[in-house]
Amino acid sequence: MKSLIDIRDLTTGEIDELLTTALDIIAHPDRYARKCCGKKLATLFFEPSTRTRLSFEAAMYELGGSVLGFSEAQSSSAAKGESVADTVRVVSYFADIIAMRHPKEGAPLVASMRATVPVINAGDGGHNHPTQTLTDLLTIWREKGRFENLTIGLCGDLKFGRTVHSLIAAMSRYAGVKFVLISPDELRLPGYIQTDIMERNGIPYEETTDLAATMPALDVLYMTRVQRERFFNEADYVRLKDSYVLTPAKLETAREDLCIMHPLPRVNEISVAVDDDPRAAYFRQVLNGKYIRMALILKLLEVD
Ligand code: CP
Repeated sequence: MKSLIDIRDLTTGEIDELLTTALDIIAHPDRYARKCCGKKLATLFFEPSTRTRLSFEAAMYELGGSVLGFSEAQSSSAAKGESVADTVRVVSYFADIIAMRHPKEGAPLVASMRATVPVINAGDGGHNHPTQTLTDLLTIWREKGRFENLTIGLCGDLKFGRTVHSLIAAMSRYAGVKFVLISPDELRLPGYIQTDIMERNGIPYEETTDLAATMPALDVLYMTRVQRERFFNEADYVRLKDSYVLTPAKLETAREDLCIMHPLPRVNEISVAVDDDPRAAYFRQVLNGKYIRMALILKLLEVD
């Protein structure tokens, strides 16, 4: 039994295999419609979600399986003090696979040690979000046709933005990738990601506060929301929340084949006026999330 807690749990070959399956699902959805008949997915969400939870649920239904679970901690026995470890031991009796989101970093890892079925980390605090990264990889592949030789701008809250942390870990495997880290000083990428991932893998990167200056060099621009729920101080959030707002005017110097991504939800960091730009990939990105989660469920349930 294998769980997915960190994107680094997957080899590059396994990521390729998941992408290949997702592309085949897109091409031939009917072939997959009964693959998970009789199987159950539990979605245990101790923190709010729209895309991740509903795309997991849609993925399992489209595979012919069924879904149970809860969408907030208050409607589970966590509200009475039950531990994550006990919760997943219990849910393992009812479901074949678990997708869990939790505000505490490491909670899905603890869950994977106690569950008797595979556990998927659907986001843990400001730490990791590996299925968003698989979604992002499928999007980059479909939009750009390659992973190599890309200059990727990561913009916004790089400190608390867990999707950025996982995406760096994934893209650092590919040759010719360069990162431009665009954030206010207070929201810079954690040092351990720079040293343990980028520097260890010899990945070039630069840090800047200036999105406009870096725009012409980018192949991919990955915007992120300032993560209000991770701040201790509301005044700091208010001061930083609109550090970057992408508008059509700011895209005038961008490449014609720029791919604009965002894990969503968006608050104010991309103007709705950008949505009709053909380079805006963030809603196509959402749909990719369903396909890659279908591929992941098949893999972890060892369905042929
Ligand atoms: N991208 C993402 O994780 O969105 P949700 O919080 O809506 O699941």
